[in-house]
Amino acid sequence: MDSVLNIPATLPVGAAIAVGGPAIALGGLSLWFLKGYVSDHMRGPSSLPPLPVVPGVPLLGNLLQMKEKKPHKTFLKWAETYGPIYSIKAGYNSMVVLNSNEVAKEAMVTRYPSISTRKLPKALKILTCDKTMVAMSDYDEFHKTAKRHILTNVLGPNAQKRHRCLRDSMVENIINRFHTYLKNHPHEAVNFRKIFESELFGLAMKQVLGKDVENLHVEELGTTFSREEIFRVLVLDLMQGAIEVDWRDFFPYLKWIPNRGFEKRLEQMHTRRMAVMNALIREQKKRIASGEEINCYLDYLLTEAKTLSHNEISMLLWEVVVETSDTTLVTTEWAMYELAKDQKRQTNTFSLGFTGFEICNTTSLTIQQDRLLLEIERVSGSDKIREEKLCQLPYLSAVFHETLRNHTPVPIIPLRYTHEETQLGGYRVPAESEIAINLYGCNMEKEVWENPEEWNPERFLSENNDPVDLYKTMAFGGGKRVCAGALEAMLISCVAIARLVQEFEWKLKDGEEDDVDTLGLTGHKRNPMHAFLKSRK
Ligand code: HEM
Repeated sequence: MDSVLNIPATLPVGAAIAVGGPAIALGGLSLWFLKGYVSDHMRGPSSLPPLPVVPGVPLLGNLLQMKEKKPHKTFLKWAETYGPIYSIKAGYNSMVVLNSNEVAKEAMVTRYPSISTRKLPKALKILTCDKTMVAMSDYDEFHKTAKRHILTNVLGPNAQKRHRCLRDSMVENIINRFHTYLKNHPHEAVNFRKIFESELFGLAMKQVLGKDVENLHVEELGTTFSREEIFRVLVLDLMQGAIEVDWRDFFPYLKWIPNRGFEKRLEQMHTRRMAVMNALIREQKKRIASGEEINCYLDYLLTEAKTLSHNEISMLLWEVVVETSDTTLVTTEWAMYELAKDQKRQTNTFSLGFTGFEICNTTSLTIQQDRLLLEIERVSGSDKIREEKLCQLPYLSAVFHETLRNHTPVPIIPLRYTHEETQLGGYRVPAESEIAINLYGCNMEKEVWENPEEWNPERFLSENNDPVDLYKTMAFGGGKRVCAGALEAMLISCVAIARLVQEFEWKLKDGEEDDVDTLGLTGHKRNPMHAFLKSRK
């Protein structure tokens, strides 16, 4: 267990790569960096060439070329012509787009001091209460304090050890619910998301408030919400709101023109979210007043975060609810989709007519679900997989990381902003540029990944690969803003995938094999996955 939990949640990508390297090499590297830094510093960014520019049209810039609403894909396409770093115009605003591991790392680590702020679009400004969240704040005192709190009570290795029983019971509930579904609907495909999402939300509520909720009376709104409605108000509506576009973001000189429909919708989401959070907090304060204390984020913040306002506490609590409920679901659903599709791959290969000779010689013909099950059985026999065993399951780790790479849950990191002139990839980057780090583009880089569009966990197990290659996906970001929830996401997702494969044989519903469309800020599968289950018992 310790070996799993000792992975520092804040390990920067650069550090992860350096860990384990011989001291002499590190010494050499630092000299090399120092030399580079000194010469860059002396030359200064102003002497460097300007960025390649993707041609657009006057006033609108490149906006019309991004109509398909999947900017990460458009950015990748442009990288083929203009290289891994280039500049575009989103209306009035200049945006620098980064599409390779090299420049992304440079932005997240080396040049971070010049790129440590964010410029949020109007929708996110409203929904984040003007950056009152760890993930959306600038690198300032609020960020440092709030990050310390979230790591101490919820996401750091010790906090994760304390929350272990919540994760264990969540996974068992998920398994039981799938068994019940199978018993009641033996010939129907199950909607994976419906069960997983609901249990993950339950875990979030317990970590944050100490208790799950069934319903809630919200005085401010004069109504009682069911659990499903609470989930909608706290998670689904806000994730949808986060991608709403206010055209005035692209034309700041037209800010004076009202966009009332947009503002009203967003303000309403915000008001409802705060009303529900306040009602939840009020309920738990009654519990605390009655003398019942629970190790949860609310109880911790009320005693340890005296300098934070009520509004800030509500936002920090909400942040954990939304972050726990979203990206881990995205990753686990895509992983199960790929494993469930695997059987179909095999069937296709049969219908293409392969021979026994090909079976023996082609690893890509291995049924990945069976390979995973074999690995689990070798390590755990017929016992249920537990978190302690994760470090002995390299194939499971490869499945998890390949899913993060191929179905990047955060395709574009929330925009950063250069508050001073800097340089990236050998080019001058002017002050006041927005920086879009296209993690999807990095994960599809042909120079780094062979056949990047293929989901192929075996790529991480080949002898040519080092275990640190797993970090090349950069799915959790890097540097000072690396994901604080990476450890929790890994523990939940890996144990859930392993247990789901231990208990059931998964087969994707016919017709869903090519259903890989995504939706939203965090790479959700557009249509929930449906699969047929067969109990292995
Ligand atoms: C597979 C799951 C996840 C992925 C792929 C992911 C991805 C990311 C990425 C790319 C960032 C960096 C953003 C940036 O550089 O600006 C980030 C930051 C963050 N994530 Fe995650 N995340 C995941 C799960 C979680 C979970 C479960 C939580 C909490 C419950 C969480 C909490 C955070 C926080 C608090 C930050 C901000 C860190 C900071 O700014 O210092 N994440 N995440």
